Amino acid sequence: MVVGAKGMLGKDLMGILHSSFSKDEIIGWDIEEMDIQKEDESLTKIENLRPEIVIHIAAYTDVDGCELDKEKAFAVNAEGTRHVALAASKCHAKMVYLSTDYVFDGEKGEPYLENDSPHPLNVYGHSKLKGEQYVQEWVKDSLIIRTQWLYGPFGKNFVDSILRQAREKGALSIVNDQIGSPTYTVDLAKAISVLIRFDARGIFHVANSDLCTWYTFSRAILKLSGVNRVNVVPISSKELGRPAARPSYSVLNCQKFEKETGLTMRPWSEALKDYLSTYHQPLS
Ligand SMILES: NC(=O)c1ccc[n+]([C@@H]2O[C@H](COP(=O)([O-])OP(=O)(O)OC[C@H]3O[C@@H](n4cnc5c(N)ncnc54)[C@H](OP(=O)(O)O)[C@@H]3O)[C@@H](O)[C@H]2O)c1
Repeated sequence: MVVGAKGMLGKDLMGILHSSFSKDEIIGWDIEEMDIQKEDESLTKIENLRPEIVIHIAAYTDVDGCELDKEKAFAVNAEGTRHVALAASKCHAKMVYLSTDYVFDGEKGEPYLENDSPHPLNVYGHSKLKGEQYVQEWVKDSLIIRTQWLYGPFGKNFVDSILRQAREKGALSIVNDQIGSPTYTVDLAKAISVLIRFDARGIFHVANSDLCTWYTFSRAILKLSGVNRVNVVPISSKELGRPAARPSYSVLNCQKFEKETGLTMRPWSEALKDYLSTYHQPLS
């Protein structure tokens, strides 16, 4: 079962799972079917279903929203995950949990390994890390996948936002002091499905390869979309002044995923080309 099936990653993951398993083997729920903040409801509903694998990707993902509403962040991302983990353990199910690069503080200066010590800078990162700890505490057979900078066809995302702003404005100011790897939800969904097929356990980092800043990413988005007339100005995170602090360098080392599966995640620029050509008309 997929918990969070109607979110940005959830819709792609449901598509991928439906193509590799028979339809009646996969069930996808979201908040309409089950609010993970409610312990009794989550336990009863999951236990009644008795899934073999619970893929938990539901979350409160608004990073600045979490900073302003710590209670909700922990109620959904930490306690909600505890409820799902408890139910999974009662069903003796495997549990897959999606986590984030924001469990790290960005001080390492080189790609993070799965066993590097987490040290979140913001409430979202703290709440997702607590979720990881609950999964490890309650579920014997668990797989935690940390990923980053997601975009895809089924959710509000940075790529669409840059293209929308390019249509509306002549100049954009984009942060140039955070480094990471933009990751296409279609590629991530395939990687999750492969890790499940391999019955992988423990923590894995999965993201598209190569790195960039939000500024260089936005330049690539505009270039590949044929937009030359928009001026992009690099700015600092401080100048942008968002409520939540972000790590300055949160690139994830994905070698463990490569060793386990024999697969390599493609560079973010190739994945971006694919996304733009599939879902966007060229702008001029
Ligand atoms: N987006 C990123 O850049 C990113 C980076 C690293 C890791 N991740 C992780 O990857 C996973 C998927 O992210 P995403 O971007 O696809 O997220 P998303 O689009 O926000 O989807 C999350 C889904 O969870 C649902 N949800 C929220 N609260 C819930 C509750 N109390 N009970 C049940 N469902 C609830 C949401 O419903 P509503 O929309 O109605 O709230 C939404 O459908 C998350 O675990 C996230 O932490 C994301």
